[in-house]
Amino acid sequence: MTPERAAELTRQAQATLRANDRGGYTVPTAGLYPFQWDWDAAVTALGWIAFDELRAWEEFRWLLKGQWNGGAQDGFIPHIVFHQRADSYFPGPGEWGLEHLSPPTSSISQPPLHATMLRWMWQRASDKAAATGRLRELLPAIARHNAWWYRTRDPQNTGLVMSVHPWETGRDNAPAWDAPLARVPRATRPYRRRDTDHVDGRQRPTQDFYDRVVYLMDFMREANFDPVVIAHDGPFRVVDAAIVFILHRATRDLLALADELSITIDRPPLVAALARAEAAVPRLWSESLGLFANLDLVNGQLIEQPVHGGFLSWYAGVASAAQAATLSAWLAQAPFGVPSTRIGAASFERHRYWRGPVWQHMNLLIEAGLREAGEAALADSIQASSIALFERSGFHEYYDPIDGSGLGGTQFSWTAASWLFRQ
Ligand code: DGY
Repeated sequence: MTPERAAELTRQAQATLRANDRGGYTVPTAGLYPFQWDWDAAVTALGWIAFDELRAWEEFRWLLKGQWNGGAQDGFIPHIVFHQRADSYFPGPGEWGLEHLSPPTSSISQPPLHATMLRWMWQRASDKAAATGRLRELLPAIARHNAWWYRTRDPQNTGLVMSVHPWETGRDNAPAWDAPLARVPRATRPYRRRDTDHVDGRQRPTQDFYDRVVYLMDFMREANFDPVVIAHDGPFRVVDAAIVFILHRATRDLLALADELSITIDRPPLVAALARAEAAVPRLWSESLGLFANLDLVNGQLIEQPVHGGFLSWYAGVASAAQAATLSAWLAQAPFGVPSTRIGAASFERHRYWRGPVWQHMNLLIEAGLREAGEAALADSIQASSIALFERSGFHEYYDPIDGSGLGGTQFSWTAASWLFRQ
């Protein structure tokens, strides 16, 4: 890429974040996602830190306005914070049954990237005094969130936290969730999706998927959001390898950053959780896929679907050597890697959301892990694909791994942030 084209992309990426800024928090994209999303916010802050440091820390401050404090769910950060009203999205706050909160929120979480993103922001920040001040406020809240994951999503201390809704995994309609979700009844009440007002339905989850995830949302409301009931009786309970890896990495980063800045957090439960996770992760290894896989907790079986969340094991610092060969084989098939499902798998769909397309923030995390683990050739290959996609198609929500065309929402915040953080 020429330096001129790179500079133009940087200008466009900054303009994308400015256009999606709602005065302290960033919407993922106008219309399709008009609120603040949890893991989007954490990644988007990485983009802000590259050109407006004070604004970057604000993103987290706004996200934490939605954090729940006290009671059984103390520390919970919801996957959506509804800072304002908007009719362009379903399901809104009334559907979740949490309209009375201020601000209203959803009742499930999302991949807990926060501490890692904060550590990367700290490393990048030039105003260390401002950064230290912000981290003193933010880190104790994030520590309570990580503790929430271990306490409520792994009540038996197995070392493997569960996810109770496909939206909680952040990779909504990944083929790994097909079989566990097929067991969940379909909602029978009327509702109207809004996503297909904005994006071609062939790039979005199916109607069958929506009927079942709406049922799960209603189940949580009817269970009065009781985490004990949800973890025991929830009709959808999976161990998502990506969440296990993201949480593991985040807790290590949290402890390291708190140490470095002498910030007091409740360490012993987090240290114990790290040890339990390290002992348990080998249970997720799938010999037949050559990849860390996901576990269906309702029937106790490993889900043998080739989805890319397992490639976050390097990022978590727990990779196996065999997995490098698997990733090489996936990349050899994909003109633009990393596809979210292996090309050629029966469940692969090149245009449909998390069933094949490439996501830039996932590339960024997978690549970072590979680089740290000394897998330079694989990391370079992902970096080259990522840059080629930015150059070819700009800042889409996701991309076709075969021809590199942009898919889903446009002017997408975390995609723009993934570019800015690479500069
Ligand atoms: C959506 O609505 O598609 C989101 O991914 C759910 O959080």
